[in-house]
Amino acid sequence: MNTTQKRIEETLQMPVFSYVQKAADELGVDAYVIGGFVRDIFLGRPLGHDIDIVTVGSGIALAQKVAELLPGKNQIQVFKTYGTAMIKWKENQLEFVGARKESYSKDSRNPVVENGSLEDDQNRRDFTINALALSLNSEKFGFLLDPFNGIQDLNDGVIRTPLDPDITYSDDPLRMLRAIRFATQLGFTIENNSFQSIAKNNSRIGILSMERIVEELHKILSCSKPSTGFLLLEKAGLLPHILPELIALKGIEEVEGQRHKDNFYHTLEVVDNICSYSENLWLRWAALLHDIGKAPTKKFDKKIGWTFHAHEFVGAKMVYKLFKRLHMPLNEKMKYVQKLVYMSSRPIVIAQDNVTDAAVRRLVFDAGELLDDLLLLCKADITTKNPKRFSRYHKNFELVKQKIEEVETRDHIRNFQPPVSGEEIMRIFALKPCRQVGEIKEAIKEAILEGEIPNEYDAAHAFMLNKAKSMGLTPA
Ligand code: CTP
Repeated sequence: MNTTQKRIEETLQMPVFSYVQKAADELGVDAYVIGGFVRDIFLGRPLGHDIDIVTVGSGIALAQKVAELLPGKNQIQVFKTYGTAMIKWKENQLEFVGARKESYSKDSRNPVVENGSLEDDQNRRDFTINALALSLNSEKFGFLLDPFNGIQDLNDGVIRTPLDPDITYSDDPLRMLRAIRFATQLGFTIENNSFQSIAKNNSRIGILSMERIVEELHKILSCSKPSTGFLLLEKAGLLPHILPELIALKGIEEVEGQRHKDNFYHTLEVVDNICSYSENLWLRWAALLHDIGKAPTKKFDKKIGWTFHAHEFVGAKMVYKLFKRLHMPLNEKMKYVQKLVYMSSRPIVIAQDNVTDAAVRRLVFDAGELLDDLLLLCKADITTKNPKRFSRYHKNFELVKQKIEEVETRDHIRNFQPPVSGEEIMRIFALKPCRQVGEIKEAIKEAILEGEIPNEYDAAHAFMLNKAKSMGLTPA
């Protein structure tokens, strides 16, 4: 027995399948496990907890029978309108559906559904690799039904639609994004006709909800090399509909013999780089958006050449608008991305100057708990192809990191808490909350960041007394 066969057998030995087998046999209907779960068995990928079961008959009736047979009390949810049902059992989520034929109207993803054969059901699925079905009935338990050579496509690494791609994609335009996402996740190629069809139908993406689009973007960004997906989105003409801010970074302009880099390709390199350092999805978003302010701020200056003045500030503002447009959360995640975009050039600027302790302390203070992620982003941002510059930037960057460590061990600026609190200042000088208290606190913070005094209570207390005196205040 080869390893795939062994894996199929082992997987189908999961207790849940024996209950489906029993239920289907008792009802006298055919039942199959189908879709991504089967695909991943063949690919040897880790199996998810979502299991799709299709039956030639009523999905709801089969689910009800399975729920009866499963030990313990089981939650079953029935969706009458769709003819589907869902059971949660242990860590698994079982989705039941009756085999169907579907036809779609032009402006909606909601199909008109009719009962159909297994083959009808396989036909209406997105890709041949997602249409593989394994029988769960006793007499042909584990038997594979693969009418579109999905196994061949799995072996060849090809994404292909079971039907004419124009039909499959216009039935459900989300599949255009799914094709690109699977190509990125699995390292597969989208078959040429399919790709042409995506490019031709790209404006159909307009009927999708932002939430669906973002879900696919998250999945692409969670891959080890997201650039594959973004390049495909760009090539298929989908990206302008989703992230025009990235498209605006494309291209190289030349004035008086001076060129700037192509910030679109640079951005994708930064995203790939960050993926080898961190799994954090939002850090990956920050990498994707770190330069978006460069398009609207680009200028050519005869003396200095190309400039992108204040692009970090402009970019951070654009992050908010972009998140809002894509219906992404406008919460601490957005603020995190915004802050990283805003600070994205800081460590590198420091690295290029003579690194002073004060500059490092300010960086640590401003970045706060985002410091480590900011440093990763900056490291990922070094994409120069000039080997001398590459090693110089990395050396400088390491120097900044080393300085940060030194300054941190000495001054504890990260998560800075003022050594003298506002309450204490008010108590000492018998003040109510007022501007003067804020002024003294700010002066203490500045003195610490500038290195005039250490980040310690006694020094801060003495400094406070002096500062207050210069403001005409005396202790009560
Ligand atoms: N499907 C489809 N068209 C879609 C979405 C899903 O034809 N737009 C079908 C495919 O057969 C797919 C199955 O429904 O395999 C289950 O879909 P889903 O759970 O969304 O995706 P998976 O293929 O299981 O993969 P993943 O979990 O990685 O998204």
